[in-house]
Amino acid sequence: MVIAEVPSFRLLIGFCLVGFGFSFKGPEMPLVCLTDFQAHAREHLSKSTWDFIEGGADDCCTRDENMAAFKKSGLPIRLRPRYLKDVSKVDMQTTIQGAEISTPICIAPTGFHRLAWPDGEMSTARAAQAASICYITSTYASCSLEDIVAAAPRGLRWFQLYVHPNRQINKQLIQKVESLGFKALVITVDVPKVGNRRHDITNQVNLMKNLWLKDLGSPETGNSMPYFQMSPIDPSICWEDLSWFQSMTRLPIILKGILTKEDAELAVKHNVHGIIVSNHGGRQLDEVPASIDALTEVVAAVKGKVEVYLDGGIRTGNDVLKALALGAKCVFVGRPILWGLAYKGEHGVKEVLDILKNEFHTSMTLTGCRSVAEINQDLIQFSRL
Ligand SMILES: Cc1cc2nc3c(=O)[nH]c(=O)nc-3n(C[C@H](O)[C@H](O)[C@H](O)COP(=O)(O)O)c2cc1C
Repeated sequence: MVIAEVPSFRLLIGFCLVGFGFSFKGPEMPLVCLTDFQAHAREHLSKSTWDFIEGGADDCCTRDENMAAFKKSGLPIRLRPRYLKDVSKVDMQTTIQGAEISTPICIAPTGFHRLAWPDGEMSTARAAQAASICYITSTYASCSLEDIVAAAPRGLRWFQLYVHPNRQINKQLIQKVESLGFKALVITVDVPKVGNRRHDITNQVNLMKNLWLKDLGSPETGNSMPYFQMSPIDPSICWEDLSWFQSMTRLPIILKGILTKEDAELAVKHNVHGIIVSNHGGRQLDEVPASIDALTEVVAAVKGKVEVYLDGGIRTGNDVLKALALGAKCVFVGRPILWGLAYKGEHGVKEVLDILKNEFHTSMTLTGCRSVAEINQDLIQFSRL
């Protein structure tokens, strides 16, 4: 008897393995949560690509804490549901920087999508457009900005800028993204130097050189990225420089990577339009707080003057609900999008987004929230273990 061809027997084995703490997914079993996509990506991506996507800095304390803090760190965040409200209609729509999105779950900037799927960022853009959410395109996109826009011309896009040491190049790029219809400029502030990612060092992934040659093809093969997108990052940028960027563009400027009340206050003082509370998915300075733990401090500091968003460790609908209850206007998701891409390109990203959106709908319904405006701090309690 060939065991693999008898579905009921396989199911039985599956249940037994799950019961003993093993995860078993045959090819016919659907991926039902974001960590299923993670497991699939681990199996199917090359080791260096998997390590590049998954890696955190140093001991990966912050990367892991980003997830754990939603569930089971010192004071776990628990939900306080309210019942007997009419939740026959639950509306997840909201706005960011005045633009409507179908749900407060958007796509964080991550580089090099063609490592995960041949169409790379074009697939991501299509999935974001179909879902009516915002996609922040990275400076390190592996498709040209023109191709990304052409792939999803109606999508809401923001552009993430790593500031180049040459001002003229920044100016040209900002003008280009503005003319291509990007709706905000997201300046990443937490990379004056790339964090110490041990796996990448072991695998000799050098974003400026080896990745270009090894994974995306060399210029000679005609499969290369534009020079600028491999460009260096200016470590000398400081608060006073923001006015120069503001003079360059009419786009709202959003700072990504703020973790403290001091920097949040400075951001408001320097007239930025938004803040993304983020520790870069634990890939920069290790042993900073989980994003969700830094959120409250930043929200309190800005006193409602600018929108605050969060990324880092969002894996379930409850995570989204908790971030919104603690003051985020919207969350952004990083690695799970790459897992979705690695699974089935645009359709894989769509599946990841659908699952998260459906989970968030369930979270809202079961806590008695009929609209995003009804999500507030009363839904949260911090419990001792
Ligand atoms: C593979 C990878 C590449 C990334 N590239 C960028 C980038 O180009 N620019 C940037 O601002 N952040 C980048 N990030 C950080 C993400 O925008 C985001 O902060 C982080 O992934 C959120 O955590 P999560 O992966 O747990 O959702 C990258 C993250 C990963 C995992």
